[in-house]
Amino acid sequence: MPNNSIENNVVLVGFMGSGKTTIGKLLAKSMGYSFVDTDTEIEKEEGISVAQIFEMKGEEYFRELESTFITNFQRKKCIIATGGGMSCYQDNMRKLKVLGTVLFINTPYDSIIERLKLNQGSRPLIKSSLSNEKDELLELFLKRQQIYRASDKVVAGDSNPSFIVERIREILKEFLEK
Ligand code: S3P
Repeated sequence: MPNNSIENNVVLVGFMGSGKTTIGKLLAKSMGYSFVDTDTEIEKEEGISVAQIFEMKGEEYFRELESTFITNFQRKKCIIATGGGMSCYQDNMRKLKVLGTVLFINTPYDSIIERLKLNQGSRPLIKSSLSNEKDELLELFLKRQQIYRASDKVVAGDSNPSFIVERIREILKEFLEK
């Protein structure tokens, strides 16, 4: 099935705190699609949190789980909110494009930092970065921006969620089968 098929999924990619989960849930509701959050699904499979997976089994193990998750994904008509690193490792961007339309939520770094400050506990990659190694996080952000840009479509992520959802629906309407 081509990745602009109407039957297909919509895959949201972007940095931590870019709004994938919030927007994904609203988008799913407005389109009548199911919502899937890859971190949540992996947590269910492993029976522990993402933070615990990083701590007990390491990041590489988590990346394998992410890759296996997309390889085995069979469902249609889902809005899939991916973990911020999922599209950046192995062959995952290509695999995500097979699952559906890949949409990059492009949120400015400053807005992301503000959001992450409010909710940093569950995110192993930013726990220390926010206070000590800010440059390291910026470096990761800039490096990943290049990868996210290989998505099928981009939407600006710095307005209110319902506006972004409307914008995404317009973008999808243009992109999906005519
Ligand atoms: C990660 C982002 C997280 C989660 C894990 C690693 C990353 O998801 O998958 O902590 O590498 O950017 P969110 O983007 O939902 O925070």
